[in-house]
Order: sequence, then structure tokens, then C-alpha cells
Amino acid sequence: MLTVPATETRELAIDVRGVEKTFRIPTQRVETLKERATQLFSRAEYRQLRALRGIDFEVASGEFFGIVGRNGSGKSTLLKLLASIYRADAGSIRIAGRVAPCIELGVGFNVELSARENVALNGVMMGLTPREARSRFDEVIEFAELGEFTEMKLKNYSSGMLVRLGFSLMTHVDAEVLLIDEVLAVGDASFQRKCFDAFARLHAEGRTIVLVTHDMSAVERHCDRALLLEGGRIETIGEPDGVARRYLELNFGRAPAAAPGADSVSHDARVVDAGVADSNGEPASGFAQGEEITLEIVVEALRRLSEPVFGFQIVNADGLLIFAPEPIRLDGRQALAPGERARIRARIGNPLAEGHYYVHCAVGRGSEGQDPLAFRKNAADFVVYGTRGFGGVVALECSAETTVEPAEGSE
Ligand SMILES: Nc1ncnc2c1ncn2[C@@H]1O[C@H](COP(=O)(O)OP(=O)(O)O)[C@@H](O)[C@H]1O
Ligand SMILES: [Mg+2]
Repeated sequence: MLTVPATETRELAIDVRGVEKTFRIPTQRVETLKERATQLFSRAEYRQLRALRGIDFEVASGEFFGIVGRNGSGKSTLLKLLASIYRADAGSIRIAGRVAPCIELGVGFNVELSARENVALNGVMMGLTPREARSRFDEVIEFAELGEFTEMKLKNYSSGMLVRLGFSLMTHVDAEVLLIDEVLAVGDASFQRKCFDAFARLHAEGRTIVLVTHDMSAVERHCDRALLLEGGRIETIGEPDGVARRYLELNFGRAPAAAPGADSVSHDARVVDAGVADSNGEPASGFAQGEEITLEIVVEALRRLSEPVFGFQIVNADGLLIFAPEPIRLDGRQALAPGERARIRARIGNPLAEGHYYVHCAVGRGSEGQDPLAFRKNAADFVVYGTRGFGGVVALECSAETTVEPAEGSE
């Protein structure tokens, strides 16, 4: 385990020492009524599930701290311990300042009450005076974009509306420490952007932010440090890019293409660089399903190249070709002179299934055969994460409806 201490000069916001959490899960499946009856008199059997083991870390005041890990690794359990929703079986947790959690959908809300009543109640529970809670209501609702729904009972809210309300409230209660589970994944892209803008503002104000996420590009872009959980233990803690790389290795069995694969270079051209970016042009290594991916390839002509064509292939971790575009030609140019570089930027929609993808890229001559002049295997790679689809290589749009037909002969 690699441990990097939090910045020593700053005071601690969170101090976690030797924390353990074990769940007891009943192992006996009750099959029949008779068994159920006899079980009333036998001791139930439990399996111990050690969700967190020997967790030690600290977060400095004002840090933006990421928590990542595979499903079941213990991230939500850890956040709930930090939020005092669970109690640790052993160890200690100290938090300096007021905590605002946004952890589980709707937890803390009373679904029989309206947004207005819930903001008043929860605002007070998170430390505002009743007067403050009332006076911030408009801001909370405006950020959550729920202006038309303030008097609606929360039981009629969609999950997206609940997330927006929960997130907005968390950011408006003046808490020193904010704890956020993966809820953001529920929101749409424009709300997610707003959330990250809010994080940036809160971070600049010196609040401490702990964010559980699957989005490694968000970790790399926003976090000061991050922690990777694996099987209830800390696998890595430290610099965001190192943690993100380790996460990708654990999740997909390989590190991102740090060393590009086979490079075929001719005297005519070479692939200089290839990379993946998000829709803002920021380098990215992970994309939510449906999020647009931008590929950027830089090719240099070593000799004069007339009518060059550029291409790429996206393959999945099994090496299966997922997509290759039509040959791409230079816009408004016939040729590249020696030393000139062409930058190809391709925007691709992303209906991909969850997984790890690799990009091969090539440059050829339009008029001559298929053989590329230069080719680079695994020039870039990226991960797609999300929950759309249960298997396969693409996440197709899918909606289903069911009907039940009456048994034959019935009326
Ligand atoms: N309330 C609970 N009761 C029993 N087991 C639980 C409970 N909450 C979590 N677990 C188990 O603890 C482990 C860690 O879960 P969790 O913290 O939710 O992981 P993550 O958020 O990383 O997906 C999992 O094996 C999960 O099944
Ligand atoms: Mg979780």
C-alpha cells in the first residue's frame, strides 16, 4: 500500500484510524413454511461480510478528495461511516466541522412532504437556523431547477429531481465537509456540469469535498488526492492520476496504453501523437455511456504526401473491431509537405457498452491500395462506464413494455 500523507501544514478535516465495518448477512434461505416455523426456534446463521478492513487515511481541510473502487469495494459504506449513518465496529473517525451528505437517493427527505418543507427540515438538520433555511429556499430551488415543483410531495419526484434537490441543498447549508456518493451519475450532462462548477466554487472557498465516483477523468481533473478501495482495503492513496491508472488496471486488467503498441513507420509518414478528449477538448480517459468522445491524431509527413487519407479503428479489450470510419481526407488541401503535420479531430457518438477500448490509427495514400504508410496500434485508449445494458459490445437504445394475455378459455 502506498501512503502519501495529506499536506502536513494544513489542519485535518477528516481523520480515519483503523476503521473496520462488518455486516452480518443471514445465510439460511427459507424454503418452506415448515422450515420457517422450525427456524423460529433455531439460531439464525450469519455470514460475516467484512466491508471495510483497517482503513486509515486523513483528508486535509480544503482538499478535494476522491474515493474510487469497483462495485462492492466499500465506497458507500465508507461514506456512510463518515456521515455517521453507520457506526464503525472498530477504529475512530474524527471530522472537523459540519458535514453535509448527499449519499443515497432521497435519504433524509420525508417523501410525504413538499420540497419546501423538506428544505426547511433538512436545512435545520444540517445546521442552519430555521430562518436561514427559509431564506435559502429560493437559491436551493433555483439551482435544482425545480421552480415548478416546490409544493409537490417528494414521493412524486423522479429520481433525477430528488438528486438535484439533494445536491443543491448540500451545497447551500454552509457545511465545512461535503460527502457525495455517485448520485451525480443520475443527473443529466448539463446538471453534472453545474455540479462540478459548484464543486469548483466550494473548493475555492476552502470547503472539504469527498466525492465517490467512477469517472476517472473527473478524478484527474478535480481531485487533489484520491483513494482506491479494493475488497474493503485501501489499495492506493495519493495523486489522482496514479490512483486513476491503478483503478483502470484493476478494472480492466491493463494499464492505459502508456507504451503504445507496434508502431509501423515508413519513410513517408509517422503518427506523432494520438489522444482522447471530452467535448470540451479536455484530455480524458473515461466517458459515461452516451458522452461524446473526441479522438485527436497528429500525423507528420516525412516526404511529400499527396492526397493522404487518415483512419482509425476502435477495438475492445478482446481485440474485436468495434468501429472504423470512412477514410478521412484533408479539408481544403491536396497534399502535405515534408515536416507538415495534420491534426485530425474526430468526434464520435458513444453507444458503447461498459469496457476498455483501444484506438489504432493509420495514414495512407488515397489513390493507392490499402496498405498504410504508417500505423500505430493502441495509440490511445479510454474507458466507458455506465449502467446501460447487461452485456454485449454496444449499449443500444432500448425500452420495453409488457402485456399479459389472458389464459385461454377465460373471459
Ligand atoms: N447494509 C448492508 N448490509 C449488508 N451488506 C452490505 C450493506 N451495505 C453494503 N454491504 C456489503 O458491503 C460491501 C461493500 O458495499 P458498498 O460499500 O456498497 O460498496 P460500493 O459502494 O463500493 O459499491 C458489499 O459486499 C455489500 O454487499
Ligand atoms: Mg456504492
